[in-house]
Amino acid sequence: MGESLPLPSNDAVNCLRFPSPLLTGESPVTPPKMTIQEFKNQATKELSSSPSPALDIQVLLEYITGYTKSQILLKRDEELASEKAEWLTQAIKARKTGLPIAYITGHKEFFGYDFLVTPAVLIPKPDTEILVEKALDLILEKIDARPDSLLTICDMCTGSGCIGIAVMKNLIEVHNIPFDRLPKITMVDISPAALEMAEKNTEKLIGQEHPQAKSLFRFTRSNLFEQVPWRFDVILTNPPYIPHTMVNELLKDGRSEPRLALDGDITETGDRAKINGYELDDGLTIIKNLIPQIKEHLNPKGTVLMEAGEYNAQATAAWAKNWAFKTQIYPDLEGQLRVVEFK
Ligand SMILES: C[S@@+](CC[C@H](N)C(=O)[O-])C[C@H]1O[C@@H](n2cnc3c(N)ncnc32)[C@H](O)[C@@H]1O
Repeated sequence: MGESLPLPSNDAVNCLRFPSPLLTGESPVTPPKMTIQEFKNQATKELSSSPSPALDIQVLLEYITGYTKSQILLKRDEELASEKAEWLTQAIKARKTGLPIAYITGHKEFFGYDFLVTPAVLIPKPDTEILVEKALDLILEKIDARPDSLLTICDMCTGSGCIGIAVMKNLIEVHNIPFDRLPKITMVDISPAALEMAEKNTEKLIGQEHPQAKSLFRFTRSNLFEQVPWRFDVILTNPPYIPHTMVNELLKDGRSEPRLALDGDITETGDRAKINGYELDDGLTIIKNLIPQIKEHLNPKGTVLMEAGEYNAQATAAWAKNWAFKTQIYPDLEGQLRVVEFK
């Protein structure tokens, strides 16, 4: 990226303005002229309560100027164009409310690929990359073992689409799987806004470079498998699995991630899960609904990879065993139990 990088797209700027209560109602004030270094000094003071002020400022500056880290150091006395200074001023205000940098820029890197994100979707997490790695091992093995037929994959609870898209992109670009051997992928989410994001990311990351491969994607809005009549060879899923009261705590920092993407204690009708009037708070309600449905939607010899996190990996494996699955739990790079495989 160089000096000629345009200002962020309207999408990104709209995203910055997105959670309207945070930013609207205040007409933008033209910030005084400032150099990159002056912005850094001022923003460092303003973001003193952020857990990562230096990194936040660096990412915002790289994004708006198009400069690399070292260019930003070299050009510290360069004056920021007024629209860039204005954008940065608004960005710092938004960050002070707790809004994550990814929602401010509208981008998040996952598995080395640049995903578009808005507060309609969970920001893809590095923890989830282990699921993609395991999925690639599994899918490559299955492609080898079945030269005569195409694999079918479901990315259940797809959100931004990061899992299914990273898998397909990697199969094409890293493993050079030819088009006629690539799997078909069904991306499912209950949220229309999330599904729209998954489609946009598929167009950006697959469609633009590999238009044929885009035709292998199907997008289905559904409450788990309710509207999904098909069976699959591989089901990949990162469902909501965090206990309800823990989600309440997490959301207090202003992160604006959708509760729908986090809270595992939601029933099929979208209500708080209860048993005998007692509100459940173990984060397992969606997973417990999902596993028997998976049983109905997995082809013989099919395999499931489900992220359930340190909160719920063991309980998920135990529940899957109740449904006669054989299970294995994989830790993430930090050694936390993260992904449950069952078949
Ligand atoms: C933890 S996020 C995962 C997003 C993405 N796959 C990732 O790994 O970053 C869970 C997703 O599940 C979706 N979801 C929640 N309840 C659902 C349900 N009952 N049926 C289908 N999708 C659901 C949410 O909208 C959200 O996009």
